[in-house]
Amino acid sequence: MNNSMRDLLHATADRAANYLEGLDHRGVAPSDEAIKRLAELDEALPDAPTDPQKVLAMLDEIGSPATVATAGKRFFGFVIGGSLPAALAANWMAGTWDQNAGLRVASPIAAKTEDVALRWLLDLLKLPATAAGAFVTGATMANFTALAAARHAVLAKVGWDVESNGLFGAPPIHVVVGEEAHPTLFRSLSMLGLGHQRVTKVPVDAQGRIRVDALPKLDGPAIVCVQAGNVNSGAFDPISEICKWAHEAGAWVHVDGAFGLWASATPKRAHLTVGVSEADSWATDAHKWLNVPYDSGLAFIRDPESLRSALRLTAAYLPESDTREPSQFTPELSRRARGVEVWAALRSMGRSGMADLIERNCQYATIFAEGLKGAGYTILNDVVLNQVVVTFGDAETNKRVITGIQQDGTSWCGPTHWRGQSAMRISVSSWATTADDVENSLSAMIEVASREAVR
Ligand SMILES: Cc1ncc(COP(=O)(O)O)c(C=O)c1O
Repeated sequence: MNNSMRDLLHATADRAANYLEGLDHRGVAPSDEAIKRLAELDEALPDAPTDPQKVLAMLDEIGSPATVATAGKRFFGFVIGGSLPAALAANWMAGTWDQNAGLRVASPIAAKTEDVALRWLLDLLKLPATAAGAFVTGATMANFTALAAARHAVLAKVGWDVESNGLFGAPPIHVVVGEEAHPTLFRSLSMLGLGHQRVTKVPVDAQGRIRVDALPKLDGPAIVCVQAGNVNSGAFDPISEICKWAHEAGAWVHVDGAFGLWASATPKRAHLTVGVSEADSWATDAHKWLNVPYDSGLAFIRDPESLRSALRLTAAYLPESDTREPSQFTPELSRRARGVEVWAALRSMGRSGMADLIERNCQYATIFAEGLKGAGYTILNDVVLNQVVVTFGDAETNKRVITGIQQDGTSWCGPTHWRGQSAMRISVSSWATTADDVENSLSAMIEVASREAVR
């Protein structure tokens, strides 16, 4: 390797380490000045090449301060995990390798890490050992991929080949979802031609769980989408009962478990995931609770053939083999080697490390809820997982408090609407968060709320 490449990689590693160390000493949100400085990137395309060291310096000096500190310990917005040390390092290694993970022949190591990680994931998440798996960009695409398999299977059962003929003239598919399904699930359904308006939306209870007493009658091809982990409340649909009802009618059950599926990794939350393994397909994110870098989602399908048939790809120049050919299980052909960092995260954490990560985050959510309740604020959900929904008063008050918390910078939380009320969401999803971070963030939240709530 020439020295300039080695120097560049060393300098980048130093910059990265400085960035991570600095996260403890800056606000979670970027400052106004940092965002203003981004205008320096608005230059014309240079006529001549630039030294890579200079390019990196620009990225670090202008870019690093303008990041949101989601890689840090006190970001509690959306559902955004950090990056485990082994996962981040593996991501760098995989970037260095620059492998095309679509084909085993193009990257034996990418295919092997997927094989092994898939076996471990099915074990950890307590899913059928023979299920197929797809390494995709996120839960949106994981839902899409699994629902493509579902669409194939329910139509094949009534003699319709949807991959050849599309949905023109096809027997209708009855799609059932909960009223609280994640908005991206509707996008996945519409991309598959299943429509997001024509679905049956089942009413939910106060936690956002599908009401079993309100399930519709099923007749003919049907796909039922349930949720393991509501993005606000963290609640799980009654999956076991729904699987029983749906399977009696020959329907396919799909579980959107973008973060909730990881509850299976800790014995202490096993009561939440009862029945999950009875479904036909599952979607989850690795970039949420497995804490690997973006982007990384996972789809699992009980019957591998329905996924292969939905995504079949043949060409004279593409290899066919008896072993798992990665691109036969994903919508893409070429893609990056996501399995590498999934493997590294699982290899470094092991079973007990994963159980500890999930359980610790859940306990921190409970500490947030109890602390805020103790300070006189109202918790709107049953805190069963890592999600807290809190209100400080009316909509204007909540807005002021949330802005105040974001400006204070100790932590970052975002707004939501929950069952008709404005509120703030807290999601604890990072391996790096400590009990001290929770205590400091809680104190700062209460201080801001007590100041803003009386204004
Ligand atoms: C339940 C659920 N499904 C799907 C998604 C979409 O995930 P992604 O943004 O990784 O595509 C989310 C994101 O928070 C979610 O919580």
